Amino acid sequence: MSFGKMPIANGFLTPEQYPEEYFFELGTAFCPHCKMVQLTELVDERKMFHENYAFFSSTSVRMAEHFQRFAKGVMKDYLDPSDPFVVEIGSNDGIMLQNFARAGVRHLGIEPSANVAEVARGKGIRTISEFFNEDLARRIVAELGQADAFLGANVMCHIPYLHSVAAGIRILLKPRGVLMFEDPYMGDIVQKTSYDQIYDEHAFYFSVASVSHLFGEHGLEVIDVLPQNVHGGSMRYVIAHKGARPVSAAVALQRAREEALGLHRPETYDQLRRNIERSRDELMALLRDLKRQGKRVVGYGATSKSTTVTNYCGITPDLVEFISDTTPIKQGKFSPGAHIPVRPYSAFQERYPDYALLFAWNHAEEIMAKEQKFRDAGGKWINYVPKVQVSA
Ligand code: SAH
Ligand code: TYD
Repeated sequence: MSFGKMPIANGFLTPEQYPEEYFFELGTAFCPHCKMVQLTELVDERKMFHENYAFFSSTSVRMAEHFQRFAKGVMKDYLDPSDPFVVEIGSNDGIMLQNFARAGVRHLGIEPSANVAEVARGKGIRTISEFFNEDLARRIVAELGQADAFLGANVMCHIPYLHSVAAGIRILLKPRGVLMFEDPYMGDIVQKTSYDQIYDEHAFYFSVASVSHLFGEHGLEVIDVLPQNVHGGSMRYVIAHKGARPVSAAVALQRAREEALGLHRPETYDQLRRNIERSRDELMALLRDLKRQGKRVVGYGATSKSTTVTNYCGITPDLVEFISDTTPIKQGKFSPGAHIPVRPYSAFQERYPDYALLFAWNHAEEIMAKEQKFRDAGGKWINYVPKVQVSA
C-alpha cells in the first residue's frame, strides 16, 4: 500500500524550515516467505534520531508504570545473582533503566538521540549515544562482558539492519541470557485498522511468525510471547539461545491465532488497505461537516502517528486549528507536512474546543481520566481507531 509522500513523523518544524522539509514515499509490503510486513522505502536513521529528537518517553505516567513492571519482572526472573548486567537499546530518557539504576543493577543504555540520552544521564543512568549493531555488541562484550538481559521497547521495529542486530544480540547474551522486546503488533493493526502505526521510524510490523523466522536464522528462539495493552496493542517477545530455555505453549497458541487472523495471507492486507481507505474517507467527511457547522476542532497529542493521519487524509489547519501537546520541544512548532500549529496543553485548557481529535488514542485511558472537565463543558472526542466515531 502507498500512503503517498510523507515527512519525518517526528520532524516538528518552524516555517523557516519548510523549504528544506524532507519527504519520502511511505509504502508497505508483505513478504510471503518471511511473513514480515515492512516499509518499501527507508529514511536514513540520522535524519530521524539525533540531538533534536522530539519523542521523550516519560511524557506518559502510565508508560512509566508499565516499564517499572517490565523491569521488576526482569529482575525477578532473569538476572544472575552474581554481578548481573542489563543492556537496553532505545533507552531514551531512561524510563525503563531508571528502575535498574535505582536497584543498583549494572546496566548500559544505548541511545543514539543525544538530547534524550542526556536526560537519562542526568538521572544517573549509564548511557552511550550510538546506534546498536553487531560491531557495537563486540565492543560491549570486550569492555563490560555478556548480558543477562537485552531489552528494547518500541525500538527493534525501528532498525532496518535487523540481521546485524540479531547477530550482535547472539554475541552479547550469556548462554542463559534473554532478549526481551516489545513493539506494536501486526495483529492489532489488522484488527483495529490502526494504520497510523505506519511511519518512517517503524521499518517493520512484527508478528510472532515473522519474529520467529528472523531470530531463528541467528540461532535464537522465541520462548514466550506476552500481549501488552500499551501503544494501541503491542507484543512482548522473550527470546533465548536455541535450546537454552523451555518454550512456553503461548508461542504456538499465538501463532495459531495469527493463522486464524490471516496474517500469513496477502488478501488480509488487501482488506486492511480497503479498511484504511474507508477510515480516511469517514474522518475527512466528519471534519468537513464540522467545519461547515462552524465547530472548533483541536488535535490532542502531537504523536508521530498523527503525521501519517494528517498527511495521508489531507487534514489541514482550517480543519484542525492546532494540536495540543505537553512536550516542550514540540510546542510553538508546526506538525510535519500538514503544518498544523502545535501548542502547549494550556492552550487547550484555557479555551476548550467543541471537539478534540484524539491523536494520542493509545493513551486514551490516561487522558480520559484527566479530562472530565472538558466533557463537563460539553466537549466531544473524535476517535478514529478502531472506527471513526464521536463520543461525549
Ligand atoms: N524505549 C522507549 C523509546 C522508544 S523511541 C519507549 O518505549 O518509550 C525509539 C528510540 O530508539 C529513540 O529514542 C531512538 O533514538 C532509539 N533508536 C533508534 N535506532 C536505534 C538503534 N539502532 N540502536 C539503539 N537505539 C535506537
Ligand atoms: P505517543 O503516542 O506515546 O507516541 P508516538 O509519538 O510514537 O505516536 O505520543 C504521545 C504524545 O502525546 C506525546 O507527544 C505526548 C503527548 N501527550 C499529551 O500531550 N498529553 C497526554 O496526556 C499524554 C499522555 C501524551
